[in-house]
Amino acid sequence: MTVFSIDVSDVWKSFKLPHQRQDTFKERFLHPFHHVEVEQLHALKGVSFSIEQGEFFGIIGPNGSGKSTLLKLLAGIYVPERGDMTVIGRLSPFVELGVGFNEELSARDNVRVNGALLGLTMRQIEERYDEIVAFAGLERFMDQKLKNFSSGMKVRLAYSVSIRVEFEILLLDEVLAVGDQEFQEKCFETLETIRSQGKTIVFVSHDVDAMEKQCDRVMRLYRGEIVEIGPPDEVIERYMATTHSMG
Ligand SMILES: Nc1ncnc2c1ncn2[C@@H]1O[C@H](COP(=O)(O)OP(=O)(O)O)[C@@H](O)[C@H]1O
Ligand SMILES: [Mg+2]
Repeated sequence: MTVFSIDVSDVWKSFKLPHQRQDTFKERFLHPFHHVEVEQLHALKGVSFSIEQGEFFGIIGPNGSGKSTLLKLLAGIYVPERGDMTVIGRLSPFVELGVGFNEELSARDNVRVNGALLGLTMRQIEERYDEIVAFAGLERFMDQKLKNFSSGMKVRLAYSVSIRVEFEILLLDEVLAVGDQEFQEKCFETLETIRSQGKTIVFVSHDVDAMEKQCDRVMRLYRGEIVEIGPPDEVIERYMATTHSMG
């Protein structure tokens, strides 16, 4: 029997973009409230797919194709305007750097706040603290305020927390790309461990080599729609063949 972790059915999401209309002074005088037009930008247009429990599921597509919007919908950061989404299991969302971080607090306190936000008890946080810091390689810097950290250091810390909370589904947006090569390789090792524990991983990346090696299936998005879902090598090959002409 197939057990689903995520089921998305006909999901739509759009954003409203206000535009100042370039009209004449006279028109603006006659119709003072008419000069802002709102453009409806459809970021996702009727997306449907399912991810099985334990699957390593990759998502590719050019910039602006809707990958991050989809992950934020899954994480509950956005609400779909149409359609249904079912997520079975606890999520660890690693979708946007800075969510849950406070620049004015020390790195140490940020680990506590972040761990608590992601559902750890104070005791669990204390038990896992050394491991979190060691994996991030930041032992010497934990009493510094987070605002003194580089973006690479922040990514290492945030990732290290997010893989040590209690979860069944890990959502990963491209944020990992900010880290250096060595850290990225360490991350891929952790992903293998997470996968061997039967957990589900949803992975957005431009690193097609990593995707081809790691993913069970890959979904390709283009302009808010699913182009195809299938075996990584096939989907990536077709994506690379079109990427220069259409993206
Ligand atoms: N918060 C937002 N407000 C307005 N438009 C947005 C917002 N987030 C995303 N968009 C737009 O939605 C589309 C999809 O964006 P996104 O999901 O970030 O794509 P990707 O992650 O694939 O690059 C883009 O056209 C983007 O400009
Ligand atoms: Mg994105």
